[in-house]
Amino acid sequence: MTASIVDKLLKLKREKKAVILAHNYQRPEIQDFADYVGDSIELCLKAKKEKNAEIIVFAAVDFMAESAAILNPDKKVLLPSPGARCPMAQMLTAEEVKRWKRKYPKAPVVLYVNTLAEAKAECDVCCTSANAVKIVESLDANTVIFGPDNNLAEYVAEKTGKNIIAIPSRGFCPTHLLFQPEEIQVLRMEYPDAVVAVHPECSSEVRVLADFVGSTSQMCRYAKNTEFKRYIIATEVGLLHRLKKENPGKEFIPAYDAVCPNMKLNTLERVYYALKDEKHVVRVPKSTAEKAWKALEKMLAMK
Ligand code: 13P
Ligand code: SF4
Repeated sequence: MTASIVDKLLKLKREKKAVILAHNYQRPEIQDFADYVGDSIELCLKAKKEKNAEIIVFAAVDFMAESAAILNPDKKVLLPSPGARCPMAQMLTAEEVKRWKRKYPKAPVVLYVNTLAEAKAECDVCCTSANAVKIVESLDANTVIFGPDNNLAEYVAEKTGKNIIAIPSRGFCPTHLLFQPEEIQVLRMEYPDAVVAVHPECSSEVRVLADFVGSTSQMCRYAKNTEFKRYIIATEVGLLHRLKKENPGKEFIPAYDAVCPNMKLNTLERVYYALKDEKHVVRVPKSTAEKAWKALEKMLAMK
């Protein structure tokens, strides 16, 4: 990290009353510079709490910055790299959500925040990997439409015992698809004292090998609050920076070197230029934003 970019960013941040929020998968230098680093639910909450900020620079991917913009219509939300788009969010269109609603008119629709704003506008409530089970459990319905991640849908079905209709038929995260059970088994043999922490976007074959399943920040809390010395981690490799920083005496082993190329599009330089020129403003059409706002607020109230 060059000192000059950091100095320039600090000055700009003060002048423009800006706050930098970063997801747990961001590059180490962005995590180290950010005002706050967290998982998707924490970043949603933090964006809402930043009453004094006029600009939020959201170092993450499109759907996270869009959620911040929807929750803060009076603030300027900047996504440092406009090309940072979550491929899983692209897998579910608003039209497809409407189609399933017509097929199951009585079933509530729960959408993972990893969706386009137009799709969110069609759902009853949003969820993240940290609260999906709790949200589905609390609904007064036994059949629930859930999208777009099939693995998270399957995990929710297992945990709640409800009938989960997963939409679309093959929604998945290409980064979490990279984890294979065989590699985790080999690592377990190599490190018999290690525990395995897995993100629910991983396949059921991987999940079944886990000692802990949770969101990225839940994994951080698990590592902090347990006494183990070694952890095998099955999520995007960027999380290891925070895990190592917060737990200097412990060892973290990636179950695979899985990178989300979209998350990694953001650099400190791009954060700087986005803020300097106030460019890459996240805009959501008002009618879509109003509907999506309801689904996000409902999740935050239920969290
Ligand atoms: P978290 O909410 O667990 O940080 O997950 C976001 C995400 O995109 C996982 O791939
Ligand atoms: Fe999307 Fe997967 Fe990247 Fe998360 S890790 S932002 S779900 S592609």
